[in-house]
Amino acid sequence: MRALQFSQYGDADVLHVAEIAKPHAGAGQIRIAVRASGVTPSDAGLRAGRFGQRFPLPLPHVTGLDAAGVVDEVGEGVTGVLEGDEVFGMVDLARLGGANAEYAVLAAWAPKPAALSWEQAGGAAGNVETATRALDLLGVRDGTTLLIAGAAGGVGTVAVQLAIARGAKVIGTAGPATQDFVAELGAIPVVYGDGLADRVSGVDAVLHCAGAVADLVAIAGSPDRVLTIADLSGEHGIRLSHTAGGPGSDPQALHGLAIAAALAEQGSFTVPLAGVFPLSRGADAHRLSETGHAHGKIVLVTG
Ligand SMILES: NC(=O)c1ccc[n+]([C@@H]2O[C@H](COP(=O)([O-])OP(=O)(O)OC[C@H]3O[C@@H](n4cnc5c(N)ncnc54)[C@H](OP(=O)(O)O)[C@@H]3O)[C@@H](O)[C@H]2O)c1
Repeated sequence: MRALQFSQYGDADVLHVAEIAKPHAGAGQIRIAVRASGVTPSDAGLRAGRFGQRFPLPLPHVTGLDAAGVVDEVGEGVTGVLEGDEVFGMVDLARLGGANAEYAVLAAWAPKPAALSWEQAGGAAGNVETATRALDLLGVRDGTTLLIAGAAGGVGTVAVQLAIARGAKVIGTAGPATQDFVAELGAIPVVYGDGLADRVSGVDAVLHCAGAVADLVAIAGSPDRVLTIADLSGEHGIRLSHTAGGPGSDPQALHGLAIAAALAEQGSFTVPLAGVFPLSRGADAHRLSETGHAHGKIVLVTG
């Protein structure tokens, strides 16, 4: 099968499509013939060797954490899914990759909603899991006023919609050119940067996906009302949620996949696409992600 991989750490040029053996579904897993798969900032970070000491990867490494496709192998002990079913889901996080390929093994999945295209479903699972985990940890529910810093990104676009579905009022930060995009998702857009604390008030909780943190603590009134998924500095006394294992790692919020699928079927959840590339242009997809200004999800299509 064809797979996007890198054999050495470096910039996006180290990515190449290689012919490799198909993986097999282990116990509790399924294999899919991939139709589309996601590209995330962490894929680029792993490729660049930014997490090399903490997460040393066996090289070559096939990139990608989430995908959608048609089930073609069902592992031992798996029930409720059959060969031929259309699903979207995530790889085993311990592998930190494997989705950007013609076949991928998933460790968590849900039926693909017909309302999402293959491209949208292929890029959905990781961000849905992350957004659901963050909203759960922040206690977002009916009546919450939530500020999302970085509302136009892959996680932010999903978190805006899932929070609104819970009955929250959402304010989302984005650049001046991205305000309409955030408003179309149902959030109240606000421009990030200097003076943000003067432009936003009355917030119960803050989800930090991008940008400066200090203002967010001031806006929330207390660091314990702010959750970050992106600030690894630990400098602001706010909680970092991650699923990377080790101290402070949170369980995955996999229940979010079925919730998002149901919302999609009702017409109240979608996955805005920032870019769709063939597998052979994986390097261009990484370059777009590394601009830090992609709007929605970046996806690779496989066939
Ligand atoms: N801890 C976890 O479990 C977890 C899981 C997933 C992702 N992450 C991390 O979470 C972060 C967000 O991921 P993502 O996939 O959403 O990233 P992304 O799609 O690359 O985010 C791009 C977006 O960030 C916005 N942005 C850039 N600078 C900003 C600023 N100063 N203030 C507010 N928004 C700004 C951009 O909007 P404009 O173009 O308008 O500037 C753009 O829409 C990344 O650091 C990622 O590694 C963590």
